[in-house]
Amino acid sequence: MTTVVGSLNLDMVARVTMLPAEGETVLATGYEEHGGGKGANQALAAARAGAPVRFVGRVGRDGAGQRLVEALAQAGVDVTKVEAVDAATGRAWIEVDDAGANRIVVVPGANAAWSARDMGTLFGADTEPSGWLLLQREVPDDVILEAALQAVAAGVPVMLNAAPSGPLPEGLAARLTTLVVNEHEAAGLLGCRESVVTADVTSAAIALLERGPAEVVITLGADGAVFASRNEVVHEPAFVVEVVDTTAAGDTFVGAFATRRGEGVPVRDALRFACAAAAEAVRVAGAQSSIPLRTAIEARLGG
Ligand code: RIB
Repeated sequence: MTTVVGSLNLDMVARVTMLPAEGETVLATGYEEHGGGKGANQALAAARAGAPVRFVGRVGRDGAGQRLVEALAQAGVDVTKVEAVDAATGRAWIEVDDAGANRIVVVPGANAAWSARDMGTLFGADTEPSGWLLLQREVPDDVILEAALQAVAAGVPVMLNAAPSGPLPEGLAARLTTLVVNEHEAAGLLGCRESVVTADVTSAAIALLERGPAEVVITLGADGAVFASRNEVVHEPAFVVEVVDTTAAGDTFVGAFATRRGEGVPVRDALRFACAAAAEAVRVAGAQSSIPLRTAIEARLGG
């Protein structure tokens, strides 16, 4: 069983020809609403990739919250640990341009309206050792840290997608099995320019390993992903596809990667699977609307 502790957002998506510059107003060419939130997206990605998944998070007592929880439940995700609180369901304002690039502002709402004290016990005596805990940075730091501490105590490996960018809570890095970041987030954690990461991704991954995690993955968009542990470095190229919208491609990668790691396959195979899943996701508009089923991922892999 994969456990995801994280956010749920209603994504309000404006399609634009070009992202506006600072101080500029542009007219959208389209508008859509989709289920989103990095936590919920990763839970859905793991479920669609074939993992049994449960989700822990907070929504508001409103229609958006109900819709987001129902979407997870319909995908087979156990939502019994999602609670409704007295705050509006999280929302994300997303602009996507004609090249599929995006810009996102998250209004956390209910995602920020809980703390470690509300967590309860995540892992009981029946916890399967093959299950992973997936975390992101759209819920409070103390929630993330408490979930990680409980997982480590129960022998459950922890994967943190350190997105959005920002400093990690004290003591978290050393508890991570896997840290997943993009080049921007890697640069933020290392305190360097993104161009420094891009110029030598392997060195950046090794520098992040020195912060405490046992494994680091840096996702590189159209250039695939680099994995580093103390034993190996693997560069997995991306699949070449036509890009419609990159929203949730990283979330899809994380959910798919965790699913295959939980199945015990070699890292290279898990990376390839995750790259195939992300390639499928960028071909379709929206966040949860774009996350592929395992059959589509396997078709992309040619299996
Ligand atoms: O990673 C994409 C997600 O980031 C969107 O679904 C949005 O809700 C924000 O959380």
